Amino acid sequence: MLVIGIESSCDETAAAVVRDKKEILSSVIASQIDTHKGFGGVVPEVASRIHVENISGVIRQAIDEAGISMEDVDAVAVTAGPGLVGCLHVGVQGAKTLAAVWNKPLIPVHHLAGHIYANELVTDLQFPLVALVVSGGNSELVYMKDENSFEILGQTQDDAIGEAYDKVARVMGLGYPGGPVIDKLAQQGKAVYDLPEPKTQGRYDFSFSGLKSGVLQFIKRCERKGQTFTQEDLAASFQKAALDEVFDRVKLVLEDHPEVKQFVVGGGVSANSGLRARVDELRQEYPDKTFTVPPMRCCTDNAAMIAVAGEIAAEQGRVADARLTADPGWEIC
Ligand code: KG4
Repeated sequence: MLVIGIESSCDETAAAVVRDKKEILSSVIASQIDTHKGFGGVVPEVASRIHVENISGVIRQAIDEAGISMEDVDAVAVTAGPGLVGCLHVGVQGAKTLAAVWNKPLIPVHHLAGHIYANELVTDLQFPLVALVVSGGNSELVYMKDENSFEILGQTQDDAIGEAYDKVARVMGLGYPGGPVIDKLAQQGKAVYDLPEPKTQGRYDFSFSGLKSGVLQFIKRCERKGQTFTQEDLAASFQKAALDEVFDRVKLVLEDHPEVKQFVVGGGVSANSGLRARVDELRQEYPDKTFTVPPMRCCTDNAAMIAVAGEIAAEQGRVADARLTADPGWEIC
């Protein structure tokens, strides 16, 4: 099956053509990061306008690079939510137009399902599985008893982990997006500074906002006392504390759910080197389970993952009609 996926939920306009959930024939991503850098984060109205400018060209390029014509395509999949409403609308309108003109089935995809199904590009998912979704807008532990069932076991009580990386990078004067640069610095430093341990109510819930404030207070305290610190060690200390928060919960879930066959990660933060090392450790610790991270190019927002999720939804007959509209608050379950 040949599916074209379209993604515009935040600050990437993306289109991709994927064959049989495994073979990426093209994956085009027009990133807006350089525009939003000047504001220290994504400005929704600006993002929607840039999507409008980019969407047609990105779709055209994805079809050309795949070496196919729209006649060959079996379905058009699009992120219908959650995300920034103005941004989502652009992708949804683009997909509806494409599907109507070429008389193809239109498949709405949940953005988080896309991040989870990005792993299907490198493995056959085995159920029941647990997915850790970690991005700029999400931090969730999701239990999937089968391909089509999503139960949120735990989630962030405040900031998403990627958001915490971005905010910490801002107070450290490192620019936007913060994740990749903190990750790089952390690899050169040691986690020697004490930062506050987050406190949460639910057994599997996360919290990152206290940690983010802890970094700010640490910097202010050093300035007040005339003490020096290294950016590398502070980045390493933050990264360790953030990953401890995540992986303490992951271990609890794996212990409480011995029936789980596979653990997968998805979302922009799954590109993090420290996170990938922790997944390697789990792989040693639980040899009876499969641990999968998505390919690097499919961690941050992309449309290949939407095409894969679209094929799965199409197999289950989840087809929309011309009334499809963006749903910024779409719940996964
Ligand atoms: O999935 P994504 O592209 O967009 C959202 O849906 O949010 O994720 C973007 C987030 C940003 O917060 C960025 O700082 C973070 O992913 N990120 C990372 C890394 N690469 C991207 N965070 C930590 N380490 C990284 N290497």
